[in-house]
Amino acid sequence: MAGSTFTLIEAIERQADSCAHIGSPLYAGLLTGLAGDYLSGGVTAELLEGVSDQPVHDAVPLRYLATAHRLALAGSAAELAALFPSCGGSWHGGDITDVFLSAVAMHRGEFVRGLQRNVQTNEVGRAAVLAAGFSAIADRTGLPLRTLELGGSAGLLSHWDRFGYATGESSTGDPGSPLQFGPEWYERPAPHLHAGIQVAERASVDVSPIDVSTDDGRLSMLSFVWPDQLERFRRLDHAIAIARATPVHVDEADAGDWLAARLAQPFDDGVATAVFHSIVWQYLPAATKVAVRAALAEAGERATGSAPLHWLRMEPATKEHADLRLTTWRGDGEPAEELLAHVGYHGAGVRWLG
Ligand SMILES: C[S@@+](CC[C@H](N)C(=O)[O-])C[C@H]1O[C@@H](n2cnc3c(N)ncnc32)[C@H](O)[C@@H]1O
Repeated sequence: MAGSTFTLIEAIERQADSCAHIGSPLYAGLLTGLAGDYLSGGVTAELLEGVSDQPVHDAVPLRYLATAHRLALAGSAAELAALFPSCGGSWHGGDITDVFLSAVAMHRGEFVRGLQRNVQTNEVGRAAVLAAGFSAIADRTGLPLRTLELGGSAGLLSHWDRFGYATGESSTGDPGSPLQFGPEWYERPAPHLHAGIQVAERASVDVSPIDVSTDDGRLSMLSFVWPDQLERFRRLDHAIAIARATPVHVDEADAGDWLAARLAQPFDDGVATAVFHSIVWQYLPAATKVAVRAALAEAGERATGSAPLHWLRMEPATKEHADLRLTTWRGDGEPAEELLAHVGYHGAGVRWLG
C-alpha cells in the first residue's frame, strides 16, 4: 500500500493478522468477527469511524478491545470475564463476537471514552536482557549504579533489580521476587549475570507516564495486554505489585530536556551512571534525539574511570529482533560502542554477543 494511510477495515484486518501471528488467537478470532460487524454497518462502525484518521498508527482496534478487557478486569463485564484467561475465565476457541457486542451495547459510554485512550504497553520481559546489560556494566566497573530511564511508561523496568534472573550458571536480582526470569530466557552461551548489583539511585521519565499506583492506571496498563497471553499478563501484574510497594515516580517530561537537566549535575565519584531505554528511540521527535545525544556527549566529557557514563539501549534491528547496545564514556578517549545482544521484541531469546 502506498504511503501509510489505511482505512479502518484495513486496520482491523491487519490487527487480526498480527494477533494471529504473535500469539493471541482469541483476539485474532474476535477481530475477524468485529470486521464482519463493521462491514455490515453495526455498532463497531458507528463507534470506530472518525476516532482517528490514522487508525493503524493509533491502534484504534486495540483501543476497542482494551476497553472491553478493562471492563472485564474491573468486574463490570462478567460474561466476557468468563471467557478471558486473564480474568480467571477460559476460552475454548469459539466465536465470542456476540458476547463482546453485548458488552458494547451495555457500556456504550465506556467504549466511547476508551476509544480516546492511547494504547501504551510497558513490556516487563525486556528486563531479562537489560539485567544482562547492567551486569556487564557492574562486572567491568564494580560500582553501584545510578539508572536513568527514558520513555519509561509506567517505570516498571526501572525496578529490574527487584525481579530475579538465573541462567543456570549465574544469577542476579532478587531471588525471592515473585517475578523470576529463568534459564529459558537466555540462549547458550548465556551472559554472565552479576550478583548483588546495587542501585544507588533510579529515575525515569515519560512524555505521557502511566501511574500504576492508582487503580485507574493499573487497570489501563493491564487492559492493554491480550487476555490470552497469560504469562505476559502475570509478569505485568507482579511488576505492578512490586512498583506499588516501592514506587519510582515517572517524571512527565520530554526525554531530551529531562536528560540534559539530570546529566548537568556533577557526577558522584564511585557511582556508574547508566542511561537506558527500550523500544523508545523510534517514538522520539528528531529534536529530542539530538538533545539526548548532545546531553550524553557533553556529560561524557566529564566522565571518569570512577564515575563512568553508560548508554544502554534495546532498540529495533530487524523485523525479528532488537539489539542491545552499550556506549561507555570513562574519560580515556573516544566512547566505546558495543553490540551486546540480539533479543526478541518482548524480551525472550536473549542471544548474548558481548
Ligand atoms: C513502546 S513504549 C516503551 C515503554 C518501555 N520503555 C518498555 O520497554 O516497555 C515507548 C514510550 O516512549 C514514550 N515517549 C515517546 N516520546 C517521548 C518523549 N519525547 N519523551 C519521553 N518519552 C517519550 C511513550 O510515551 C511510551 O511510553
